[in-house]
Amino acid sequence: MTTPLDSAPILEASGKKQSTQQERFEKVRTLVHSDSNSASKALALEVAEMIRARQAAGENLVLGLATGSTPVPFYRELIRLHEDEKLSFHNVTTFNLDEYYGLTQGHPESYYRFMRDQLFDHVDIPAEQINIPDGTVAMEAVYDHCLDYEQRIEQAGGLDLQILGIGRTGHIGFNEPGSSEDSITRMITLDRVTRQDAAADFMGVANVPRSAITMGVGTILKARRLVLMAWGGNKAEIVREAVEGEVTDQISASFLQDHDNATFLIDKAASTALTRFQFPWLVGTVDWDDRMRKRAVVWLSGKLQKPILKLVDEDYNESGTGELLASTSQEAYEVNISVFNHVQHTISGWPGGKRDADDTHRPERAFPFPKRVLVLSPEPADAFIGIGGTLERLKEQGHIVKLVFQTSGNLRVADGAALNFARVVLEMAEEESHANTNWKSQKEYANSIVEAIKEKGEFGIDPERVRKLKGLILRGEARDAASVCRMEYSESEFVDLPFYENGRYRRFQTTEDDVSLMNGVMNEFTPDIVFATGDAGDPSSVQAICFRAFEAAWNELSGAAWRRECNVWLYRGRDRPYEAHEIEMAVPMSPDQMDRKAESIRKFISIGDDDQNALIRNREAAATYDALGLAEYEAIEAFQKWKGNKAAK
Ligand code: GLP
Repeated sequence: MTTPLDSAPILEASGKKQSTQQERFEKVRTLVHSDSNSASKALALEVAEMIRARQAAGENLVLGLATGSTPVPFYRELIRLHEDEKLSFHNVTTFNLDEYYGLTQGHPESYYRFMRDQLFDHVDIPAEQINIPDGTVAMEAVYDHCLDYEQRIEQAGGLDLQILGIGRTGHIGFNEPGSSEDSITRMITLDRVTRQDAAADFMGVANVPRSAITMGVGTILKARRLVLMAWGGNKAEIVREAVEGEVTDQISASFLQDHDNATFLIDKAASTALTRFQFPWLVGTVDWDDRMRKRAVVWLSGKLQKPILKLVDEDYNESGTGELLASTSQEAYEVNISVFNHVQHTISGWPGGKRDADDTHRPERAFPFPKRVLVLSPEPADAFIGIGGTLERLKEQGHIVKLVFQTSGNLRVADGAALNFARVVLEMAEEESHANTNWKSQKEYANSIVEAIKEKGEFGIDPERVRKLKGLILRGEARDAASVCRMEYSESEFVDLPFYENGRYRRFQTTEDDVSLMNGVMNEFTPDIVFATGDAGDPSSVQAICFRAFEAAWNELSGAAWRRECNVWLYRGRDRPYEAHEIEMAVPMSPDQMDRKAESIRKFISIGDDDQNALIRNREAAATYDALGLAEYEAIEAFQKWKGNKAAK
């Protein structure tokens, strides 16, 4: 695999195409950084240089800005440069890409509010140099407002640099599929997928506005420089389509291929679907170690729709993997068998190891037995979505399992659930009042919940007591779900990491308190195995933040005796599922287990999110193994051993 290009300048004029053989599938310059922080820092530094250069020349810099979680680390770094290195924004004029239609500036999810929170309130930019489309203009005035926005950009001298994120539909700004290359600032109807992606921010998809005002693709392409940032595995597929696919109005980010100074700035997780990383043998010489061999053979089998053991020399030679055979001087059959065995050894119905069995080829060791297994669930439903079946097996096989819910998940709970609870209390109070009058405080409490929800309105922020109640409602559902997976009441712990309780989506940051809490949880339980998720998620997601808190605590505990022997298995919840070649432990599930897993997920009624997609992903994993020529299971839960785990053997 190529080394990430961490050090290449981002904003330099570069022409359209990538220059090396490795990158020849990429039709727009694509820089891969190890993580979103390093990429954001590098970009902020270059933007700071531009601002300073303009200051020296007595000129203004016109910046096009984006919202969403993607640019957050970039804004944080700009603020740091302002605070620590005296970077001034007095000569910066900004134009934001878009705004939800119908939201006032004060709405917690308006892009106006977002920009103030994330950047403008923390730097010295003059208010009159800030431009954001106005989501409150009357419908009949929208057209003029949009034309005026275009004119203001021109009067400012045009955009020197436009920062972009990318939506799951491939949109830039809010240019949903169908937006033409010369579209200008206008009102647009939001795609269903886009609204679903924003649902968590708005506490439910029903609250997400149906339309928005956005700069057009043409407006964006007129900028002198474009940088599109993307982080996390969930963006990998759409990044590949935008970078390597045809230019199409179905994916507005693909129009960046037509610009002569556009760069995709992505992290490793978002780069994984690019040909140079996914199928490196198609773009150059590779080091054929065991991993790479497995990857290529699994790919070949999928591509030719032939089970592994039926692949012949010609299949390898005609598909660009002949080098693999040459590198080992083996025939196809020998390579097939070795990879087949490798894949077969990933299958295990004993996720905690099989007592007294030969464990040479098993994913998990036989001893110690029973194992102390710590299962981390960032939001309460994650563990059931990711490892519901495995959880049940671990319990049945006699291990000591502890399920730790890292956050309360209270932001996901609908108002209706809290209102229901309050009304039940009020009714109870009515009934009890005949017998005794001690329900006064309960009544007060329930009324205060009803009032607080009324007061904050549809989009407002829940006061602490409402959040607390919602968290408790979700706790009950999580316990219910756990009991479906055969867990006892006492085997779950809710640690309510503080980053979550004190924040809101897209504004979360890991704190030392989170790390020390995770440290305490692990050190007290001293696990032999940890199941965790979030390593490849969008870095600002709850899952990724929880993973980082775990990772930091794990690193702090490097001296702990238990840690040296502890294995960490990663699972995927709502994130991009593992591909067959990535799976290192495949736990088969029976149809009955699948039914129970479905039931456990259904317990999360208050979040109105019956994510049965998890089951589809489990069935797909089983179908893939079947197609490779392995046994045909109903479903499979897939895991990977964490590479940050120094104890991994
Ligand atoms: C919204 C914004 C886009 C942003 C996209 C992705 O649709 N209008 O500008 O790129 O979301 O958001 P995120 O960065 O949170 O993944």
